[in-house]
Amino acid sequence: MTTKTILRMGDPRLLDTSEVVGDLPNAEIDQLIVDMLDTMDANDGAGLAAPQIGIFKRVVVFGVDQNARYPDTDNVPLTILINPEIEILAQDVEESWEGCLSIPGMRGLVPRYTKIRYKGVDQTGEVIDRTVEGFHAIVVQHECDHLDGILYPMRIPDMSYFGFEEELSQPTEEQE
Ligand code: NI
Repeated sequence: MTTKTILRMGDPRLLDTSEVVGDLPNAEIDQLIVDMLDTMDANDGAGLAAPQIGIFKRVVVFGVDQNARYPDTDNVPLTILINPEIEILAQDVEESWEGCLSIPGMRGLVPRYTKIRYKGVDQTGEVIDRTVEGFHAIVVQHECDHLDGILYPMRIPDMSYFGFEEELSQPTEEQE
């Protein structure tokens, strides 16, 4: 098991735009995915984007097992998503508490679209095309933002709702 160092907010590389992945399957991408899944698991994350471990390719992984670490959230299947594209299906926005492995110990109240369709491919090139809502939609928006150099605090409209997890009275959500 290889756990990679996660870049933290303030590292300017987290603000970079990641590159589209070319031909698949690809041994380099397969290794990247193994490293990302190991790193996500080791840090109890719900998701991870490649730039968080310093690889600037459009690859994200995410997944939440309802029966394991996050009993209060929807089940989100373990997904490897490459070259994702998001289509917003409803203009409705809801705020929820987010965290990020690149911003340890902190939480913020972030508005996200409630219903999206996302498309991309997995590591074999198989097409993924899903319409999702709720926590699943939030995780995908959060992870895909990383590919464009956007961290969740940049989306917080009211900075009164950003702070250290230990100090916030609100219930906490998952680390993405
Ligand atoms: Ni994150």
